[in-house]
Amino acid sequence: MTAPAPKKFKNPRAQYNFQGRTCSITGVGSYVPERVLTNAELEKRVETTDEWIVTRTGIRERRLAAKNECTSDMATQAALRAMKRAGVTAEQLDLIIVATVTPDMVFPSTACLVQRKLGARRAAGFDLEAACSGFIYGLEIGQQFIMSRTYDTVLVIGAEKLSTIVNWKDRNTCVLFGDGAGAAILQNRPQSHGLLTAVMGADGDKADLLCVPGGGSRCPASSESVAAGLHFLRMEGRETFKSAVQAMCTAAAEAMRRCEIEISQIKCVIPHQANRRIIDAVGERLGARPEQLFINVDRYGNTSAASVAIALDEAVDSGRIQRGDLVLLVVFGGGLTWGAAVIEW
Ligand code: UT7
Repeated sequence: MTAPAPKKFKNPRAQYNFQGRTCSITGVGSYVPERVLTNAELEKRVETTDEWIVTRTGIRERRLAAKNECTSDMATQAALRAMKRAGVTAEQLDLIIVATVTPDMVFPSTACLVQRKLGARRAAGFDLEAACSGFIYGLEIGQQFIMSRTYDTVLVIGAEKLSTIVNWKDRNTCVLFGDGAGAAILQNRPQSHGLLTAVMGADGDKADLLCVPGGGSRCPASSESVAAGLHFLRMEGRETFKSAVQAMCTAAAEAMRRCEIEISQIKCVIPHQANRRIIDAVGERLGARPEQLFINVDRYGNTSAASVAIALDEAVDSGRIQRGDLVLLVVFGGGLTWGAAVIEW
């Protein structure tokens, strides 16, 4: 019998002794609400055009959650799909992590509400706030719990109802965002099919570039704060754009360096879906071929923490990613925060 060919990449965690623990992504799932909001409809709400939105962002439509559908509802739907694929029951879940900037309430956490909706009585749960970078942060944290033998089965969700914090009168931002959720099940499995490495970064000096100023302890809700529009999302687009391209490229390069791989070895690059021009710029700087890039920003806009989670599920579901393929996730968001992860699928 011939020995199997050596893998042409390095697993940076292999140097540590995890005593046989390996963490795999055993299932992914996503959910987007039914209601489609087209650029043509936005033309009637604010002074904009389909042509401007498509050429400056690549977005053609986005999804809007129903009035009575909140972040935990979308998160639960995505979770159920991921659990079905993984063959995991609610009783098996040890931990639920929800990455979101649009929780159902200030507290309790959306994770606790998802726990109730799933009936996952054994599971601990907490929310994670790293804006659009939350899903990679969540995968890395979930993996750490598994490698440290604390838990065997972790549910990581990125879910957002951004339509509730968008100012529908501000053309600079209202055309950009959408609602949705994506989820992944992480499990201790002998055959590792999961994160080889994850890079995470932050720069609080640029916190003001992208934020919701009101509603927290610095500026609690009042009739004045509502009148001043402080509960809406604000973004300095141009500066955010520049920071995004730079941080995403640096993080992706570092993740690939750790795994000793070239971009040509990556089957599918899944960037945060904020703007087609950012995706193209990042792809070009990394030396990726256009067909390596996964793009769904045209259909969903920017769904923040849900963005790469939905994209990963769609890439798997459509057969773009097969067992053994290398996948590169790369994200960027408010904080500022960023991250990149190499996955052996
Ligand atoms: O998820 C977190 C990460 N988010 C991002 O990374 C988003 C980063 N930023 C961007 O994607 C882009 O900066 C935007 C899409 C937000 C804006 O594109 P831009 O090419 O940077 O445009 P701009 O901000 O330089 O604005 C150009 C012009 C402005 O008019 P003036 O001041 O030049 O007269 C805007 O008022 O376009 C105007 N404009 C619009 N016009 C029609 C802004 N929004 C619109 C609109 N329709 N919806």
